[in-house]
Amino acid sequence: MLLLLLGYDAINWFDGRFSLPTPGMLAAPCEFIDVVVTERAAVTGDQSAVAITFAAPDGSPLPAWSAGAHIDVTLPSGTVRQYSLCGDPTDQSSYRIAVRLIQDGRGGSAEVHSALTVGTEFQVARPRNAFPLAVGGYNQTTSAVRLIAGGIGVTPILPMLDMLDRTATPWSMIYCGRTRDSLAFLSELARFGDRVTIHEDATYGPASAEELLGDLTVSSAVYTCGPPPMIDALRAALVDRPDVEFHYERFSLAPVVDGREFDLRFASSGEVVRVAADQTALSAILGARPDATYSCQQGFCRSCAVRVLDGAPEHRSTALSPGELDAGYFLPCVSRSEGCLTIDM
Ligand code: FES
Repeated sequence: MLLLLLGYDAINWFDGRFSLPTPGMLAAPCEFIDVVVTERAAVTGDQSAVAITFAAPDGSPLPAWSAGAHIDVTLPSGTVRQYSLCGDPTDQSSYRIAVRLIQDGRGGSAEVHSALTVGTEFQVARPRNAFPLAVGGYNQTTSAVRLIAGGIGVTPILPMLDMLDRTATPWSMIYCGRTRDSLAFLSELARFGDRVTIHEDATYGPASAEELLGDLTVSSAVYTCGPPPMIDALRAALVDRPDVEFHYERFSLAPVVDGREFDLRFASSGEVVRVAADQTALSAILGARPDATYSCQQGFCRSCAVRVLDGAPEHRSTALSPGELDAGYFLPCVSRSEGCLTIDM
């Protein structure tokens, strides 16, 4: 099988913002669910990451989900962040997320840490999964699975362990972080014994791609979540392994690839902003319209969609329907253009 690049670049502690759709924008396809925090606990030795467990206020079952899924969380301030679910997919009585505090972040993780105390009510969207575990299904021929987590990137990997344990597929995992104290859920990982290898960067230096991958048998699958340099190194190391599936999820934004500068004109005012070659169109829009709606910045939530009134967009997302494309919408968080675009803002 060809090398599969299935990651969608979703991120934990993502600093998107949320507001009601503005004219000319599509509403995000979300159904929000009221939930209440039932439990919170530090999950790293250095207390930098906290797990939040929450349930429906009336105890009714939450929507089903599968390993690798994430949810949009609307924090009490109205800020929306996206977090991987890291609880038990077979238990619909509650969900669990885990969030590391980012001191110089844009506030989402700080609000989770300060505001999501037991009893706090907030809302989440139905789970979505762009990082599914595709093992154990009909006609599935994976010979072994290698799981690689970096830091808080362990969150989508954690539910995969239980699922893999229920299949006959051999698996192993390496979990990397700066220090042992910075690694999350070590007590839960302990039950898997030597199938989980812990790597402390501060002691041994950053692991090489070869160390991370180990000995991959033919038809192996690699699932990884972590920082972009780690993902990029793994991708490069697997270029010559067409028999290996590579599934990844980043937890920070991917850089713009093959970008050229172009202009955006706001139809309402005639104002023109330049989009730099290494900048997203959304970033340029936010410079002029700070209240513009967006969320994932990955081209899948559609909340940033804006209509192009003139010009030819270069679509770099498949999240819009043919009808929406025909209507002129594009997603400025990922899509670009070779020339000037006049947008309905
Ligand atoms: S912000 Fe989610 S698709 Fe653009």
